[in-house]
Amino acid sequence: PSLEKEFLPMYFGWFLSKRSSEILRKAGQAFLDELGSLKAFKKESKYFASAIDDPKMKIDLTSYFVKRPPGVLHCTTKYTEFGKAAGAEEYAQQEAVKASYGKGFTLSISALFITTKTVGARIELSEQQLLLWPGDADKILPADNLPRGSRAHITLGCANGVEAVQTGLDLLEFVKLEKAGNKGEQVGEIGGGKLLYFDNGMWMLVLSKKIDVRAIFSGYYG
Ligand code: 2AM
Repeated sequence: PSLEKEFLPMYFGWFLSKRSSEILRKAGQAFLDELGSLKAFKKESKYFASAIDDPKMKIDLTSYFVKRPPGVLHCTTKYTEFGKAAGAEEYAQQEAVKASYGKGFTLSISALFITTKTVGARIELSEQQLLLWPGDADKILPADNLPRGSRAHITLGCANGVEAVQTGLDLLEFVKLEKAGNKGEQVGEIGGGKLLYFDNGMWMLVLSKKIDVRAIFSGYYG
């Protein structure tokens, strides 16, 4: 038994290698560039009004999602708030968490998405990776009942005034629509995959070839 209570991180998660971070950032950038110059997107551009210079021109989504994570990218598993968050201690004490700390993983990115607030990458967690996923993460409302790991994502950017926590909530909105039978309107194929539109400025690029990224499971102490 230790004398002092363990000091918990701000959050646990998978931290991408520098190389994988660069690859994913580039894919995100290419997605924003292509989407911003797409006719179908411009038709719905009222949702991104502040990014429109000239309606005939490309919409600059890169400057719209102005808040971008510095350094390597990550996928938060449990936000523990240095131990203050609900369930923080319980999470940190799980065997799977302790055994996986500092270990390498390959995460599979299945889609990229944007809303009026965030841009992110959707992750499909494996059975083994789901062991590190907290039981309470996949909800917007307490009554929500979505598949485990629904929220798994990597934040690529946020609009002005939006906090990163929003990206996971935005992804859950997509999952809720899917669960309700809304598969999105298939707009066409763009570089990398099938583009879906879910209305209200919600776009998802389902990648035809998943992007595998290398990551270390660890804690971030700020
Ligand atoms: P993100 O995982 O969507 O990027 C530091 O703020 C990190 O913890 C960010 O990566 C952020 O969002 C995540 N985060 C912040 N508050 C959170 C919360 N209440 N629940 C889950 N993740 C949170």
